[in-house]
Amino acid sequence: MTFILGIESTSHTFGIGIVEKNDSNIRILANVYSKYVPAKGGIHPREASLHHAREAPQVLKSALNKAGIHIRDIDGIAVALGPGLGPCLRIGATLARFLASYYSKPLIPVNHAVAHIEIGKFVAGFTDPLVIYVSGGNTLIAIQRKKRYRVLGETLDIPLGNLLDTFAREVGLAPPYVVNGKHQVDICSDWGSNFIDLPYTVKGIDLSFSGLLTASLKHAEKARSKKELGDVCLSLRETAFDMIVEVAERALLLTGKKEVLLVGGVASNTALRQKLEAMATLHGAKYKGTSPDVSGDNGAMIAYTGLLLFLHGITIEPEKAFIKQRWRLDEVDLPWLPN
Ligand code: FE2
Repeated sequence: MTFILGIESTSHTFGIGIVEKNDSNIRILANVYSKYVPAKGGIHPREASLHHAREAPQVLKSALNKAGIHIRDIDGIAVALGPGLGPCLRIGATLARFLASYYSKPLIPVNHAVAHIEIGKFVAGFTDPLVIYVSGGNTLIAIQRKKRYRVLGETLDIPLGNLLDTFAREVGLAPPYVVNGKHQVDICSDWGSNFIDLPYTVKGIDLSFSGLLTASLKHAEKARSKKELGDVCLSLRETAFDMIVEVAERALLLTGKKEVLLVGGVASNTALRQKLEAMATLHGAKYKGTSPDVSGDNGAMIAYTGLLLFLHGITIEPEKAFIKQRWRLDEVDLPWLPN
């Protein structure tokens, strides 16, 4: 049996997951996390890192208790070294270096974006999907080829999650931004019924959201009622999600993949899932979206990806475990991917 502990601290969430591999299967034994919620405004990296440092001991203890094992039983310590916010990444990396050195365990370097995709594939049972990865920090379309994930298209400016959160915050829709698969922008969309023309910017398989954000904020400023704000939310959501579906559809037809996988924090959004499922079904492809328990940032996805790396002998010395704030998905060689 192999046990891997995974540490996630790239952004607003500090999480620890533990996975177990025995002869026949892999199980997630624990997935505990604590999320930093800013009192006002967007994420403040230093405040988030203080939150992570404060919460780390309790989250670690609780994950080990849940898994019913002692840290001495763990075979490897996996940690997300990037991409992410420097101060936040440093908390996870410091804890990982300490645990690996003190308990003499191998340290496993995990790319956070790879982890979102791998946990999605694991839960969906997919082997060769077209990946649509949407979160607060990333928006991209990828496939696996020659032992790496290859990015076919991505946002040229802000990510989808950032668009939704910034709009909600600027127009005064309260946090938390996502409840039961509904973003505040979805809730607000239910108040509206009229569609307003907003900038729709798709360039091949790339997209751009900043013009859409600016125009939506201008319309929201002029809104004089809940219904009028609802019209802006509805139009913003439909425009942004249709852009995602268009680039995904173009990539699907180009690659001829038979599986469509939605991953990342925004994968829990019901409206987006429905649109992508309809598109995939239309082209005879299977669709799956990562379930909400593992779609947001979490330690289980780091532990699971750490396990795959560990089984392929990929570990590093603790003193070489540097954080990489801009560590791109397509820079990572992954021996288990096909040629
Ligand atoms: Fe993430």
